[in-house]
Amino acid sequence: MDWNESTRRSFLKQFGAAGAMALAAAKAEGVGLPAAQTAAPGSSPTDLKQAATRQQRMQWWHDAKFGMFIHWGLYSVIGQHEWAKEFQGIPIPQYEILAKHFKPKPNAARDWARLAKKAGQKYMVMTTKHHEGFCNFDTKLTDYNAVKQGPGRDLVREYVEAARAEGLRVGFYYSLMDWHHPDGAKCATDEAARRRFVDYTHGLIRELLTNYGKIDVLWYDVAWPLDAKGWESEKMNQMVFELQPDIIVNNRNRLEGDFSTPEQHIQASEVGRAWETCMTLNDSWGFNRGDDAWKTPKVIVDNLATVAKGGGNYLLNIGPEPDGSIPPQTVAILEEVGQWLETNGKAFYGTERCNAGGNVNANYTRRGNTLYVHQKFWPGHTPAAEWLSFYQPEAVIAIGGLKPKVLSAKLLKTGQPLKFRQDEFSLQLTGLPVQAPDQPATVIEVECDGEPIVDHGAERPLWPRYKVGISI
Ligand code: GLC
Repeated sequence: MDWNESTRRSFLKQFGAAGAMALAAAKAEGVGLPAAQTAAPGSSPTDLKQAATRQQRMQWWHDAKFGMFIHWGLYSVIGQHEWAKEFQGIPIPQYEILAKHFKPKPNAARDWARLAKKAGQKYMVMTTKHHEGFCNFDTKLTDYNAVKQGPGRDLVREYVEAARAEGLRVGFYYSLMDWHHPDGAKCATDEAARRRFVDYTHGLIRELLTNYGKIDVLWYDVAWPLDAKGWESEKMNQMVFELQPDIIVNNRNRLEGDFSTPEQHIQASEVGRAWETCMTLNDSWGFNRGDDAWKTPKVIVDNLATVAKGGGNYLLNIGPEPDGSIPPQTVAILEEVGQWLETNGKAFYGTERCNAGGNVNANYTRRGNTLYVHQKFWPGHTPAAEWLSFYQPEAVIAIGGLKPKVLSAKLLKTGQPLKFRQDEFSLQLTGLPVQAPDQPATVIEVECDGEPIVDHGAERPLWPRYKVGISI
């Protein structure tokens, strides 16, 4: 694969996000399991009710860490981003023609689910209806649906069955905003239109959560043009939990929900609040033929570490082509990530929020008293070893401000134990090979005698200062 200019651009973007995240994590006071979430002051009655069962409902999700987002609909036929209708001002009667030409191959979702499994993703979230208003599922409420139009069958059912066949949890994305429904905008200014549109919306959600067995995640999107009162979001969530008592819902119907949804950036919520970063693999959610801004596997595994460090989840998107096939770049990136996770997954799944600042060369995750050092840029041999006793002829990785005492360290890929020394300033892992033992990052498992904390600035006041005002 060609990791050219676009890769460099996306890396720079990601690096910025990772920096912001490191700051956010550093600012977070203390550490804690997201499962200990409480409802925020001023929460609605449904929010409070959800809070009581949240820990038990969300445990699988916290452990899972990594999911696949799928954007697929009529916009895929155009292949120029899922906002093509609005970006290009396509009139509704023109756009509707696409519904006749959307003719995916049977069971395309099986390939998505197989790829998700291979990539180390534990759950999937598919667009059942995006802003364009087309329903990928069978419904009695509109003919603008996959069964009655080009596909001639229920694409959501195929997806649900495919995910289950691979043992993956099933999520539904649902856009409240609707560019097609006649009341989709009018509802903001006309009460009769609002009544019709809210009944339609609640009705579609009811069908989705009734007709496909157990659904694990409901992922609302864009609430324009109504507020929570207008959408009757309280009633909406009450219905959702009556139909699916174990489900998890996000916060985009303008209620608090179970988790926050930072988009295209990594931002840890306050301790105790669950969060999930959703992100594209290039710059588009829906299939976009010309978008070559692919992120590298290196960026993806680093993002995954940054997310896990903040106690969050990573929902990474694919945009299948109109026939349902997955763009080859997507397959290549996700397969490489998955292969790497086969030996390094231990450093992600089931990990907890980690009180560690990052640095350009390394990222950190944690489970109990074990710290995982994700070395993305390997030090190699430094010529400074000839002059400074701090370094040695072999590679050394030094982590300033790591507390507490280190008991052992090993390479996660091979299990090879590593030599180390530790003083009040740093941990130094010594005798390392000059070449990185693993790519796109090498993970080192460090056992400590208490919860590991990395504060690179902690030693700053401790340093004895020499030779100020004295000529050398
Ligand atoms: C935004 C976009 C949308 C995408 C979503 C994913 O809300 O409008 O196209 O589905 O983000 O989070």
